[in-house]
Amino acid sequence: MARNALITGGTDGIGKASAKELVNLGYNVIIIGSNEEKGKAAVDELRQSAPEGHIQFWKADLSLISEVLRISKLFLSRFRHLDALILCAFQMQPKRKITSEGFEKTFALYYLSRFALIQYLDSAIGVKGETRIIDFATPGQNYGGIDFSDLTMEKNYSAMNALKRGSFCNDLMAVEYSKRANNRQVTFILTWPGTVRTGIADSYPQPLKSILKLYMRLFGTSPEKIGKISAYYATDKSLANSRLKIFHKMNEIKLGASRLDSNLAQKLWEKSLQIIQVSL
Ligand SMILES: NC(=O)c1ccc[n+]([C@@H]2O[C@H](COP(=O)([O-])OP(=O)(O)OC[C@H]3O[C@@H](n4cnc5c(N)ncnc54)[C@H](OP(=O)(O)O)[C@@H]3O)[C@@H](O)[C@H]2O)c1
Repeated sequence: MARNALITGGTDGIGKASAKELVNLGYNVIIIGSNEEKGKAAVDELRQSAPEGHIQFWKADLSLISEVLRISKLFLSRFRHLDALILCAFQMQPKRKITSEGFEKTFALYYLSRFALIQYLDSAIGVKGETRIIDFATPGQNYGGIDFSDLTMEKNYSAMNALKRGSFCNDLMAVEYSKRANNRQVTFILTWPGTVRTGIADSYPQPLKSILKLYMRLFGTSPEKIGKISAYYATDKSLANSRLKIFHKMNEIKLGASRLDSNLAQKLWEKSLQIIQVSL
């Protein structure tokens, strides 16, 4: 039985490196990005490394819930099971942006799209074997709570605050998902890849951009190495059905107590459900 992998942000960086590994392992791989040219170029590149491989690019702006829903419906119309969902779509927002659906863009892309995909694709998760959900983020970032009355971050917006809040939301989602997925064949892997030499810093504000790029050049890990680790998360038997695993690369880590605030995790979950209005 062919295994299916859906990789958001699969056209670049860690997502593309993960796609390369999984396509070489015989997965049927779908990569998603918002830029058509980049998507086509990524498919060409991946086909060169695996001429017999099954790889497709689907274009979508995942900062929009309507697009997440469209992609999810497309997936469910073609495939019955999802074996690996790798969440990498990300873009730093130096200036506060509100999407056409009314959400702060980092919150929408980095957190809400991931939450929505998991909800919309639920009927393909944990069926015909285990699903691995692999969430590339920055677990354990120190962020002081979530202001539910200001989700659009009118107050105190900065690119770093939006990034930290998004990471915090991913932590809470992972904790809450693993509780709710009790008795399901699914493992949620929340992972911090460390500093990786990708284009992620390109949209960072200066002088952070130059500092980060230099740091990446000197100390960053190659995306290829993280791609191999990603394949380990997707396939290794030692991780089977373990509900929640949190990693820094290959090392298991633990979240601090504030990340395990179950009331906050539940509140965010319910608010997110309200926002995305699950309809599948
Ligand atoms: N690199 C690091 O040092 C590092 C460190 C910590 C955590 N991480 C996490 O690892 C993940 C992957 O990072 P990366 O370094 O691989 O990033 P990257 O190289 O910048 O790739 C980002 C991917 O997201 C896609 N994307 C951006 N906006 C999108 C949108 N609106 N809709 C759909 N796709 C969109 C991009 O494709 P398009 O441009 O075509 O849209 C691209 O494929 C991120 O979640 C990041 O937070 C990375």
